Amino acid sequence: MVRRGKRQNPVTIVAVVPFVDLKKQYILHRKVLDGAIQAVCESTEFILGPEVSRFEQGFAAYLGVPETVGVASGTDALRLAAGALGIGPGDEVLLPANTFIATALAAYSLGASPVPVDIDPATYLMDLSDAKKRLTSKTRAIIPVHLYGRCHDMDAVMHFAKEHGLLVIEDACQAHGAMWRGKRAGTFGDAGCFSFYPSKNLGGFGDGGLVATADPNLAHKLKALRNYGALKKNCHESPGENSRLDSIQAAVLNVKLPFLDEWNRARFRVARRYAERLEGIGGVRMPVFDHNDEAGHVFHLFVIQCEKRDELLACLNGKGIQAGIHYPVPIHLHQAFAAFDFSRGAYPVAEKLSTEILSLPIFPEITDDQIEYVAAAVEEFYGN
Ligand SMILES: Cc1ncc(COP(=O)(O)O)c(C=O)c1O
Repeated sequence: MVRRGKRQNPVTIVAVVPFVDLKKQYILHRKVLDGAIQAVCESTEFILGPEVSRFEQGFAAYLGVPETVGVASGTDALRLAAGALGIGPGDEVLLPANTFIATALAAYSLGASPVPVDIDPATYLMDLSDAKKRLTSKTRAIIPVHLYGRCHDMDAVMHFAKEHGLLVIEDACQAHGAMWRGKRAGTFGDAGCFSFYPSKNLGGFGDGGLVATADPNLAHKLKALRNYGALKKNCHESPGENSRLDSIQAAVLNVKLPFLDEWNRARFRVARRYAERLEGIGGVRMPVFDHNDEAGHVFHLFVIQCEKRDELLACLNGKGIQAGIHYPVPIHLHQAFAAFDFSRGAYPVAEKLSTEILSLPIFPEITDDQIEYVAAAVEEFYGN
């Protein structure tokens, strides 16, 4: 079922159902994307040019926030935002045990301690009742991660943060356009952080990131920090660094932004189709979601819980289906954080799910036939 790529190196294997198909999207929009990149080259405005400002303004309007600051990656967005908000050595930062490691690295790289929190098995998001148990006198901030495209109950998060005097830095790197009660992910806290890594719901042709905020002072600080601490040439107001969203990425994102809602709706329909097709198969559990909430949940990933996960993954791979695991290692078990002495067993839900979760292929351009091929393969594996 796996085809060899035509006109490519003869050993290149082409998946029947790739995990994401960035090439398909590029080909569909090639003319305008190529034109936008060429225009930047011709203008030679490569650094913080008009395309960057246009994207910052466009994404701010899309989110409904007054300020956005484009930076070099989602990791930098989190780290710079947390740093500009004053997080540093001695501080503890609450974040979910199941997330991409970059969430925790943002705290770690500032000299703060990442404090993992167990997750809710139905939503896969940070469990606030567990967060409460992990509060200490050093807890300064919470990073809710809108994982897989599902926005947290932000009423509950903001209430928790207020009650305990915590800063809120939203990790919306997987949730461009997701909403909680009609308001977009990334617009509730002190700062909202986004990644434009190519496979994200809104992705560039390289790395990119952005911080959204309602606070003009924070935006001002971040604009300086990303540019060697300067807003004007040779006028360095803070010891900053080089972490700018580059103009070519911004030009690509300006082309793609108007399609974001349409692509998110397409992803939602894929999720609903998988859910309807796979519901009831013994051995597999679907993500719990409102099948009518097309505007709110943006399905960066479609993550199922399954028995014999690794065997299923091998079986799917054998049929040319690329599936993934997000994430196989919870934050507290990464070698990178061995110095913190986090104990195995302290996060039972995240630990159990890390052995059971599987992400099925999802992207706006996936065809009904591809979805059916994946669903039939899962069904066959469990003998239903
Ligand atoms: C939840 C989460 N946080 C942070 C990041 C870091 O973003 P980037 O890869 O742009 O640095 C990512 C993406 O990779 C992510 O998925």
